[in-house]
Amino acid sequence: YKRITTKSLIEMKRNGEKISMLTSYDYSMAKIVDDAHVDVILVGDSASNVMAGHETTLPITLDQMIYHASSVIRAVHRALVVVDIPFGSYQSDPKEALRSAIRIMKESGAHAVKLEGGIEIKESVKRILNAGIPVMGHLGLTPQSIYKFGTYSVRAKEDEEAEKLLEDAKLLEKLGCFGIVLEKIPAALTKKVSESISIPTIGIGGGKYADGQVLVIHDLLGMTHEFNPRFLRRYMNLYEEMGNAISNYVKDVKNRDFPNDDEQY
Ligand code: KIV
Ligand code: NA
Repeated sequence: YKRITTKSLIEMKRNGEKISMLTSYDYSMAKIVDDAHVDVILVGDSASNVMAGHETTLPITLDQMIYHASSVIRAVHRALVVVDIPFGSYQSDPKEALRSAIRIMKESGAHAVKLEGGIEIKESVKRILNAGIPVMGHLGLTPQSIYKFGTYSVRAKEDEEAEKLLEDAKLLEKLGCFGIVLEKIPAALTKKVSESISIPTIGIGGGKYADGQVLVIHDLLGMTHEFNPRFLRRYMNLYEEMGNAISNYVKDVKNRDFPNDDEQY
């Protein structure tokens, strides 16, 4: 395969080709996702929720993110692999941000990092980019700030927050980011932002005007079944399918049907 790079993504936007992005956290899943030609694989800090069972993304550590990222990297031949810098590993100062980004790149072999925020993290983004590490932005509903927001509802519905978001997007472009995730904001704002910058926007609950889309793989596959936001399209009900397969296995063991004569040595 021809490898996807940060440059390819910017070209895709220029050519009007939509960008596909999905999360992965482990080797086996990343292999399936990469072989299905997803353009960008995000090792999201949503691993905190879907892999570790935490209620928020805040508890996951940098070491844990590096473990997930290195597992994903070993499976991927085509996609660009982006890794979230977790909460607490970049907010306190730009030097710490750079140290965290370097650890991710060196210890996992990832291709880029993602951080949440705009003007607040300007110096950190600059420093990481100066070290030659590609940076993806993340604006709108930024889950690492969930306790500040108080709810997971749609962001930037009011003019003031929408204007700040647009300014933040322009700033991230000017600093040299190669793309920006826009999470849970009105479709009209996604359109405005996408038309105002030349780097791609990747939406999750951001509507049809984003230059690309991202979902958590467990949600797309229907492995998580209590999570039902409007923006989620499920392509499978894997919770049910896996449950049925596992029940059949249990039944076969109990009934002495498994293993049979052909399934033993
Ligand atoms: O951690 C994550 O999965 C994310 C995406 C939802 C954009 O940041
Ligand atoms: Na994330």
